[in-house]
Amino acid sequence: MKNRVFLSPPHMSGKEIGYIEEVFASNYIAPVGAYIDRFENAIKKYTHTKNAVAVCNATSALHLALRVLGIKDSQVAVSTFTFIGSVNPLLYERNEPIFIDVDEYWHMDAGLLAQAIEENDIKAVILPHIYGQVADIEPIHKLCEQNGIYLLEDAAESLGAFYKGRHSGTFGKFGVYSFNGNKLLTTSSGGVLVGDDATLAEKAKFLSTQAKESEFVEYVHKEIGYNYRLSNILAAIGVAQMEVLEERVLKKREIFSWYQEFLDEEFMPELPDTRGTRWLTTLTFENKDPFAVMRKLEKHNIESRPVWRAMHRQPLFKDAKAYLNGRSDELFAKGLCLPSGTTLTKDQVRNICEVIESF
Ligand SMILES: Cc1ncc(COP(=O)(O)O)c(C=O)c1O
Repeated sequence: MKNRVFLSPPHMSGKEIGYIEEVFASNYIAPVGAYIDRFENAIKKYTHTKNAVAVCNATSALHLALRVLGIKDSQVAVSTFTFIGSVNPLLYERNEPIFIDVDEYWHMDAGLLAQAIEENDIKAVILPHIYGQVADIEPIHKLCEQNGIYLLEDAAESLGAFYKGRHSGTFGKFGVYSFNGNKLLTTSSGGVLVGDDATLAEKAKFLSTQAKESEFVEYVHKEIGYNYRLSNILAAIGVAQMEVLEERVLKKREIFSWYQEFLDEEFMPELPDTRGTRWLTTLTFENKDPFAVMRKLEKHNIESRPVWRAMHRQPLFKDAKAYLNGRSDELFAKGLCLPSGTTLTKDQVRNICEVIESF
């Protein structure tokens, strides 16, 4: 739609087409090819992880992590304030999600997690880092270590964010990043699984390519596999996108600073000693209904979105166990995600803020 301001539209670097042309010239129009290796190497280099497996989206990356760690028919703790993509993979393996409410930084509350661990038989924790910011990883990591629990980081929204100088997604047994169409970087649809255990990463790659046993020339399968591998064409887009990662983060943070300049509202806080990307600028209103603001913005052809409706509020999870403190409900009642696309100008942000302020 012409002149519409979208929430977080794709922003190509300009090099994508050239790389895609190389893929076409090589005729590797398939989920194999040189660009998949290049994309995985770019992720490894940037995040300082030993292994990266490129797949069709972050949801399947998370599913692979659960599969290779054998997390099935188990209780798994996950923040309630997240996107369903953090939770659906649990259901694929018949796990029982236990929802944990959030701290003042909008991420999993370590105290509530400790209580949940005490009272249940939790095998894994899925820790989502949301809106480009990072959770307080250390206490959660420590709890997991002390209790022999796997930590999986859902860093789908936080590629480019740091916790005490280290990349989000690199603390747990596995981390996942998303490259879907609205993320900081996009391959239209794509995901990457990262982790330091080479054997497990190799197993994840094997499962992502239909679990074909490699010692046979014919097609031999001993276990359930998936068709999850990323296409070489999309990987070529990913390589070009990785080249502008830092530039994009700086722009997102600049957009956030403009909103701070123009609006006197409560923005999502940033945990000390972390660098979030501000993938989406999010805020809570004290005296405005966010849904009314959203409708008003819509009239001006400006897209905004509610913050997450917590998982324990989803009909799908009406009977699920949850450790709550009321924060995620309050965030949903007051919160809004504002347009944060990296082509926005300061004038556009000023205009968005004027619409918000106009009632
Ligand atoms: C927190 C979170 N987890 C998981 C996902 C799933 O990512 P994908 O769309 O690549 O499967 C997303 C984004 O879509 C997300 O925002």
